Amino acid sequence: MAEPITLSVIKADIGGYVGHSGMHPALMEAAQERLEFARRQGDLIDFHVTACGDDLGLVLTHTLGNDNEIIHKLAWQVFAECTDIAKELKLYGAGQDLLSDAFSGNMKGMGPGYAEMTFEERPAEPIIIFFADKTSAGAWNLPLYRMFADPFTTAGLVISPELHQGFCFVVLDVKENRTIELNAPEEIYDLLAYIGSPGRYTISQVYSRATGDIAAASSTQRLSLIAGKYVGKDDPVCIVRSQSQFPAVGEILEPFATPHLVEGWMRGSHHGPLMPVSVAQATPSRFDGPPRVIALGFQLAQGRLIGPRDMFDDPSFDEARHQANLIAEYLRRHGPFEPHRLPLADMEYTTLPQIGQKLEHRWRDGKDKEEPVAAF
Ligand code: F6R
Ligand code: MG
Ligand code: MG
Repeated sequence: MAEPITLSVIKADIGGYVGHSGMHPALMEAAQERLEFARRQGDLIDFHVTACGDDLGLVLTHTLGNDNEIIHKLAWQVFAECTDIAKELKLYGAGQDLLSDAFSGNMKGMGPGYAEMTFEERPAEPIIIFFADKTSAGAWNLPLYRMFADPFTTAGLVISPELHQGFCFVVLDVKENRTIELNAPEEIYDLLAYIGSPGRYTISQVYSRATGDIAAASSTQRLSLIAGKYVGKDDPVCIVRSQSQFPAVGEILEPFATPHLVEGWMRGSHHGPLMPVSVAQATPSRFDGPPRVIALGFQLAQGRLIGPRDMFDDPSFDEARHQANLIAEYLRRHGPFEPHRLPLADMEYTTLPQIGQKLEHRWRDGKDKEEPVAAF
C-alpha cells in the first residue's frame, strides 16, 4: 500500500506591498528558493508558492504527517527569511504574523495560519486549495456547508450513491477551544445553529460518512484570540478533496458564485462580500478590499502537485465579481455605521476600547443635561 501523503497549506502576512494590498515578488522568489532546497534535501515531495493579497501561501506535500516539526519549522524559516527581505525593502507590517521570536515545536498559536490533511492518494486525486485575504476563519462556514450539505449546490448529494450518506462536520468553538461533530443531513439544523455564527464557531474539518475519508480541512486560527489584541485578520486557507466520493470540482466552486458577507475588509472591522478572483486579481485595493478568495486546483501524482489551475480565472465568475462590487458599493455608503462596521462585541478585540477609555470620564448617570456645558 502506498504511503499516505500529507498536504500542508501554510500562510502568513509577513509584509505587504503596497500597504496591505499585495505581495512583493522578492518574497515569493526567496520562498521558492528555500523550498526548492528543502525538496532537494528530501524533506518535501513538492511545493507551490502563491500569494493572496498581502499573504504568502505555501502548499507543501510530504510524508511526515500533520503537525510535523520538520515541516512547520521549514515554513517558519521561510517566513522568517522573507521577513528579513521585507524589512530590508521596508514593506508594510514586516513580520506581522510571526507572533513569537523563535519557533517551538509546531505552528499552533504562533501566528501563521495552516490547514493540513493526510490521506492515501486515490487513482486520481483532484484538490482545490482556497486562500482568502481581508477576512477570517469563519469565512469558509457558508461555502463548506453548501458544498457538503446543500443539494441545491451539490447535485451529487441527491444523485450519487457515494455522496448520498452525507458528511460529518467537525466544528470548533474558537472561544472555548472545544469541538463537536455533527452529521449532515440529519443534524443540519443543529449544525446551522452554530456555524451560522462564524465569528465563534468555525468548521475545521469535513469527513465522508460513506468512507470515513477526510474531505476538507480549514485553518481555524484567530490571531486576535491568540495575541489578545487586534493583530490583523486571520486570512484563512482551506483544502477540499474532489470528485468520486467527494463533491465535483464545479460543486466545490459553486458556493462562491454568491459573494457572501464576511468579516474583515478595512482594519478587519467591516462586513464585506467575498469576491472570487484570479490569482492576479487578488490585490484588494478599494477600502483595502473587498475581501478576496482564490482557488488553486491541483491533481496529485504520488504527492507531486500537478498544477495549479487558477480556478476563478473564468468568465463564469464575472457575475459574482460584479455582484460583489455592487454589494461593496452599497455597504460602503453606510460608512462607520453597523452593519457595515462590525458589531461592538467584535470590536472589543480592536482599538475601539482605547477610544472608549479616553471618553470614559465624560459619561454621566442617565441624566439629561442640567448644567450649562462646561468649556473644554
Ligand atoms: C485589514 C488590513 C488593512 C489594515 C489597514 C490599516 O485586514 O490589513 O485594512 O487594517 O490598512 O492598517 P494599519 O493600522 O497597519 O495602518
Ligand atoms: Mg497585512
Ligand atoms: Mg492579509
